[in-house]
Amino acid sequence: MSILIKNGRIITATDNYQADIFIEGEKIAQIGTHLNVTADQVIDANGMLVFPGAIDPHVHLDMPFMGTFRRIATKPERAALFGGTTTVIDFVLQTQGKSLRHALTDWQSRATGTAVGDYSFHMAVTDFNEHTKTEVREMVEQEGITSFKTFMAYKGALMIDDRQMVGLMQEVKKCGGMVTVHATNGDVIDYLVAKHRAEGKLSPLYHYISQPEVTEAEASARFAELANYTGVQAYIVHLTCEGALNAVREATFRNQTVFVETCIQYLVLDASLYDKGFESAKWVMSPPLREPKDQATLWAGINQGLVRVVATDHCPFKWQQKLMGEHDFSKIPNGHPAIEHRVELLFSEGVKKGRISANKFVEVLATNPAKLFGMFPQKGTIAVGTDADIVIFDPNEEHTISAKNHHMNVDYSAYEGWKLTGKCKTVLLRGKVAIDNNKCLVDKGYGKYIKRKPNLV
Ligand code: URP
Ligand code: ZN
Ligand code: ZN
Repeated sequence: MSILIKNGRIITATDNYQADIFIEGEKIAQIGTHLNVTADQVIDANGMLVFPGAIDPHVHLDMPFMGTFRRIATKPERAALFGGTTTVIDFVLQTQGKSLRHALTDWQSRATGTAVGDYSFHMAVTDFNEHTKTEVREMVEQEGITSFKTFMAYKGALMIDDRQMVGLMQEVKKCGGMVTVHATNGDVIDYLVAKHRAEGKLSPLYHYISQPEVTEAEASARFAELANYTGVQAYIVHLTCEGALNAVREATFRNQTVFVETCIQYLVLDASLYDKGFESAKWVMSPPLREPKDQATLWAGINQGLVRVVATDHCPFKWQQKLMGEHDFSKIPNGHPAIEHRVELLFSEGVKKGRISANKFVEVLATNPAKLFGMFPQKGTIAVGTDADIVIFDPNEEHTISAKNHHMNVDYSAYEGWKLTGKCKTVLLRGKVAIDNNKCLVDKGYGKYIKRKPNLV
């Protein structure tokens, strides 16, 4: 099967030019102006932007969490494709007391043969011990899992202490992998949660008040220090605030690089949403939404090259599940649905509003995730020889986000009524038209597991 995309404006992390793209099988075979080739299918992309399929390196498609379960379904990945995201990296969560292999087998059993889009896994290490230590290299070399997630919060379920953190960092460093982190101070948060509950302060607002900026700034600084000591590649997930970004900036003064991911919600939503009674449960996530000054810091951080990735931390729960915390904020399952909207939100709020360039938009959504997580150049750019993961995007189409028409398996939208400019019209995944005319054309099982390599950064 061959496809010719004609007359589109190709945007990569570095370029912005008019050309045709010729695809043969799963790969891009030629790029040039007025290509003289015969193709099975021709797509006219005149007036459209053409950029690489986005990669979301922070999603929870399949997560037991806070006594409830985010079940894998073909729906979330289908929703990702509708929104221009062709590859996701999900988190395998080790159960404390059990092996990494045990967790991986569990996750594989649900994903294999059911995924619609391409996917890979991070390994979340929640219990670093003598056995886990021996499994790190196996994950990197046999399974193509090069990134190891840690939690400095959620004590008793996911959190590791600093002793385990340093041990893991040393082991991952030996294998050329990366340690990533949910960087918030779990003990301080647990103290504040208990205090507010004892005082009868039980609304979602207290979820926010229990995770002040200092909890994130302190943990980010500590993580950066430990990474500097061990020399491991370090990546902070879902960074939200000025204090935490300053800790990363501080690391640059000793010539250390700490990679930073923020998520779309921290750029476009703020903590005023916690003033809506229980409706605020829609935005109960960790870390919580922050202040307008933090949003400004994050947008600037993107342009300064400190914030390298914009992900989603997509971790949706249905309203019935959120209601578990109706009378106690600490029982509201954390997370919100966003996998479908990241690309269009970042374009509308970022590029259209002049906050970031179109190149930066591609860099933080596709190229940097591919580079940092060992998938480049197979993924993350448009070039001859790369996977033909391509978004054909109308930069002027206006539309409104609503739970009535989104494709996520969630009965509310955290962005209900948001008016956006710019829409994913056609999405190709490995040379196949996956989304066209608001229809999904690929089936369950088309998604391929991507084995990753230690990165080159
Ligand atoms: O609220 C969130 N972020 N839920 C998912 C788990 C995590 O901390 O990433
Ligand atoms: Zn987290
Ligand atoms: Zn997460």
